[in-house]
Amino acid sequence: MKIAVLPGDGIGTEIVAEAVKVLQALDLPFEMETALVGGAAYAAHGHPLPEATLALAKQADAVLFGAVGDWKYDKLERHLRPEQAILGLRKNLGLFANFRPAICHEPLVAASSLKPELVSGLDILIIRELTGDIYFGQPRGRRVATDGLFPGAEEAFDTMRYSKPEIERIAHVAFQAARKRGKRVTSVDKANVLETFQFWKDVVSEVGLQYPDVALDHMYVDNAAMQLVKAPKKFDVIVTGNMFGDILSDQASMLTGSIGMLPSASLNASNQGLYEPSHGSAPDIAGQGIANPLATILSAAMMLRFSLNQEAAAQRIETAVKTVLAQGLRTADIFSEGSTRVSTVEMGNAVVRALSS
Ligand code: IPM
Ligand code: MG
Repeated sequence: MKIAVLPGDGIGTEIVAEAVKVLQALDLPFEMETALVGGAAYAAHGHPLPEATLALAKQADAVLFGAVGDWKYDKLERHLRPEQAILGLRKNLGLFANFRPAICHEPLVAASSLKPELVSGLDILIIRELTGDIYFGQPRGRRVATDGLFPGAEEAFDTMRYSKPEIERIAHVAFQAARKRGKRVTSVDKANVLETFQFWKDVVSEVGLQYPDVALDHMYVDNAAMQLVKAPKKFDVIVTGNMFGDILSDQASMLTGSIGMLPSASLNASNQGLYEPSHGSAPDIAGQGIANPLATILSAAMMLRFSLNQEAAAQRIETAVKTVLAQGLRTADIFSEGSTRVSTVEMGNAVVRALSS
């Protein structure tokens, strides 16, 4: 079982170190190799996704990824920015299916910004298409004024597009996932305005005919944003495009108490996967030892389940996380009155201890 470990920038290195510690404590025959990615790779090699890093990721069974990005790279040309590393990995490895579960662990009900009764027992799964949409649409760029009135660019554009096979394959993933849980899929679109998403809606409906046992409904993205905070438990599986999925998954994460709790898996057609917390590199708190490593540790559990075929080990990690939460241990982001505040490293250590108890 070969794992490429790509910590990246900001808190990425701190949280990935804890997840690696947890994996090592499982005593399974992992081969882990670490490489630079994002701003760290740019600083060392002049590119956010060096050839060697991409090659390592490609030949691994799974990638454990931290986060990329730092304000100090905001001025770089787009293709050199840290974010291009994760986008490049997704595209090059064909990781089209992004699973972002939002589960509210009972001890964290009070940490959510919503009323306890709205989030208690919450278990929704956002499935985000990850290699298409406006993120990868061509053409994209800036148009420069030709009349000489405006120096520099006058307008910028990105293109939203989806092909039928791209929509079909993510729809199949969503229906199949729904079959294993609440048997309901909500497809989120903006069909009232965007041609791309009328097409999305039509294709998802067509695929849905093959899953008569799964209930399908359609929702506009603005309404979905509202329903997510009004009655989030009404959702089971949400399937949507790359950009809407980006936004809605951040929103859904807050229902669970903190974005620091939300793991994710990005899979390709052969179940090779990249596993990363849904949150970013948080440069504002990097280096302080206060970041929550649980999203990354839970991502490692998803890696064991989806790419490495180690269901028992995945459950061991998930149970250990539940144990430390029940013990009242909290990093700053999920801290509330009466709980015990711990650092990133202390949280990792506690999960390791809980694994063996
Ligand atoms: C995410 C992130 C990325 C995205 C960024 C870092 C490119 O926000 O994984 O949700 O927009 O997909
Ligand atoms: Mg995002």
